[in-house]
Amino acid sequence: MKAVAVTPSQKKVGIVEHTAPAVNADDQVLIKSLEVGICGTDREICTFVYGAPPSGSDYLVLGHESLGEVVEVGGNVRNLKPGDLVVPSVRRPCQHEGCLPCRQGLQDFCSTGDFVERGINQVHGFMTETYTEEEQYLTYVPPELRDVAVLVEPLTIAEKGLAQAWAVQSRLPWVLHEENGKPTGKGLRAVVLGAGPIGILGAMKLKAEGFDTYVYSRSKAPNPKADIVESFGVKYISSLEHDVESLAKIVGSIDLVYEGIGVSSVAFDVLSVLGLNGVYIFTGIPAPRDPIPIEADQIMRNIVLKNQAIVGTVNADKAAFETAITDLGIFMERWPDALKAIITKRYPIEACRELLLDKATGIKNIISFEE
Ligand code: BGC
Ligand code: ZN
Repeated sequence: MKAVAVTPSQKKVGIVEHTAPAVNADDQVLIKSLEVGICGTDREICTFVYGAPPSGSDYLVLGHESLGEVVEVGGNVRNLKPGDLVVPSVRRPCQHEGCLPCRQGLQDFCSTGDFVERGINQVHGFMTETYTEEEQYLTYVPPELRDVAVLVEPLTIAEKGLAQAWAVQSRLPWVLHEENGKPTGKGLRAVVLGAGPIGILGAMKLKAEGFDTYVYSRSKAPNPKADIVESFGVKYISSLEHDVESLAKIVGSIDLVYEGIGVSSVAFDVLSVLGLNGVYIFTGIPAPRDPIPIEADQIMRNIVLKNQAIVGTVNADKAAFETAITDLGIFMERWPDALKAIITKRYPIEACRELLLDKATGIKNIISFEE
């Protein structure tokens, strides 16, 4: 069957012939690919600076943002049946007995670094017609989310990021309003950096949680991304029109920054205007480039004098997948057009080279196995 793969030893990217998998253990599920999202990580793997094939294979099958349909289940699979929609997680635990996070299903916090990631590091991914996965790494998706569930994985980044923010901010009285015993963002101000898929989904999550939310991104408004953002009640501010001091004047004291831009110069500029007791969540993974000047003294003074917390977050746990699916349902009710507009276009697998190698266009492009 066909798969999209990178072959680092030959510097090749494209469709390969890949052996179709079969259920060969009781806890396994055979899944038919419906859609796979393409993200910056995939494009970076295609420049051969990141990612690695499984040992014994020349190539790595790409794809970690998958929506699939269950075709067959092993004898011990309890909660899934053929026809169910599922989203797989990305990271698989290391094998060390002493790795507490991995032993507790929190491989997103693996403490040895010997984890692997499907479609990224040492395990094949999901850009292929069928794949197998253990039930524990799959999350059920209700059929009404069929058209948008390929966005679950990128949304899990925001889910985990915000969970981290709540955890960190439990250090002080920060939450002004609770609902049903849970913290809300009401009365707090959040700035999202970037209007790509990570930024827009992060902004939706923060808005849904009640934060007064702003997106800070390069292009001048009006533009299609700004239109989407404003359509769900988030204010768009262009960095070409407003420097970070002006951003801080417009927003007021910034309580939370969700960085989804992957550009270190902008990220550190905005860090210099984070407010008192603020929390700054980094999610972007920039490719290493030449050093840049930053306002290091100002930033360090602020971190101390303003009790700021800076948190990096990568990958996501099972809880983040579950809340992402719940939240997609909420977004679908409140902002269906904005949510659907995040998906720019669906392409057949044959378009993989353009999608992975040419200049990125639109917001989220998808390979659909039904095109
Ligand atoms: C993926 C994460 C992964 C990270 C680092 C991101 O694109 O969404 O699941 O952990 O790359 O490899
Ligand atoms: Zn990704």
